[in-house]
Amino acid sequence: MIAIFEQNQIVAIIGGQWGDEGKGKFIDHLAEQADIIARGTGGNNAGHTVVVNGKKHIFHLLPSGILYQDKLNIIGNGTVIDPAVLLSEIEKLKQNGHDAKNLAISGDAHVIIPYHVDLDALKSKTKIGTTGRGIGPAYMDKAERIGIRMNDLLNPAILKAKMKSNFDEKRKQILILATEDRAAYEDKYSKESFSKMLNQYLLYGEMLEPYISDTREILRKAEEEGKKILLEGAQGTLLSIDHGTYPFGTSSECSAAGLASGVGLLRNMAVLSVVKAYTTRVGNGPFPTELNDETGERLRQVGAEYGSTTGRPRRCGWLDAVALRYSLGINGNSIMISKMDVLTGMDEINICTAYRYEGEPTRYNGKLLTPGDLLETFPTDSNILEHCKPVYGYTQPGWKEDLSLKPKLSKLYIEAIKLLTGAEVKMVSYGPEREKIFKKKN
Ligand code: IMP
Repeated sequence: MIAIFEQNQIVAIIGGQWGDEGKGKFIDHLAEQADIIARGTGGNNAGHTVVVNGKKHIFHLLPSGILYQDKLNIIGNGTVIDPAVLLSEIEKLKQNGHDAKNLAISGDAHVIIPYHVDLDALKSKTKIGTTGRGIGPAYMDKAERIGIRMNDLLNPAILKAKMKSNFDEKRKQILILATEDRAAYEDKYSKESFSKMLNQYLLYGEMLEPYISDTREILRKAEEEGKKILLEGAQGTLLSIDHGTYPFGTSSECSAAGLASGVGLLRNMAVLSVVKAYTTRVGNGPFPTELNDETGERLRQVGAEYGSTTGRPRRCGWLDAVALRYSLGINGNSIMISKMDVLTGMDEINICTAYRYEGEPTRYNGKLLTPGDLLETFPTDSNILEHCKPVYGYTQPGWKEDLSLKPKLSKLYIEAIKLLTGAEVKMVSYGPEREKIFKKKN
């Protein structure tokens, strides 16, 4: 067991790439030692897989520590919650013999309403390749300061007033955007449907009230009492609204800073970025090391790279040290490498160390970029990144032996990652099983 909690009371685990780094396994590992597990960003666009006693659980909203009945699990203020999804996850827990008495939800978390899901489908799903869960439109309402929060669900008069003005506004937008199935949308957003929707959300409020609490205060007190707090990140830094490959990313700030803000605990914390031994991305957007060939297909098959929320095949490619240096620059350099075993058996392994710009001459960050320029820093503008070709400055032969034997070439690969990114490697995971993990000796 890594001794990270012996030196730090608050530990945040985040994604160092484009999400799906395999955070679940490490979160599960560390949740065992924590008193509280808290989520602070995103919503049911996430899919966290936890394997307990050989049984696989996929959570979209519930924090990954929920199966530890003696540990408090928090869904923080920075999240967006679809109550129907949350209630069905709670129901599933109950069917599996657990309960959700150890769950606390921030009254300030924003609520996803069906019009958010419809707007997501009509507006950005195709362009950005979103998960279609209404995440972006819900965060838009939050930023516009018209959003509905969990506490609003507990107050009928307040909910009615807020929901009515939003409903009318969204109805107009949806009917403009709906070129097909207009009649169905007219029906879905009729006067009668408003009352139905309102009643449904009041009912959700009643059902969720036992969990709604002042989670910031809970965390503040817990910190005072010396409790160990694990912050569970969702998505990945390169998808974050501030630091990601804009506009191809999600709508929350899923770096370590965003996670801390999303639970209201802006204290000293240890940050661990989970980094896959190669790179994957779902949805649209530039991905310089993407492999549209047999090697990419092999990574997808061996790594079972299909989205746990949408089932979409993930795009796969080599490790990108340029992107990684950038994300570690934001979050700190402690990393945990996942899915090393997927590389076992490959003849050759490459790491991208720089990009060659091949687009039109363009001004970027105060400089003129011209075709052929070599970039060693990460351009967050998708228009630039999409014209960046990878330079594989590092190539090595792969290893064939099982990783439990610690083959020399696998050690060489880890040394290369350290050297090329400045990372400090805290753990390496080489299989879904709990014991398949190497930890750095302190
Ligand atoms: P949204 O979060 O549904 O708005 O989707 C925006 C972008 O983020 C899309 O490219 C999604 O595929 C991606 N995305 C959102 N959540 C996840 C995740 O948990 N893992 C990987 N990609 C994600």
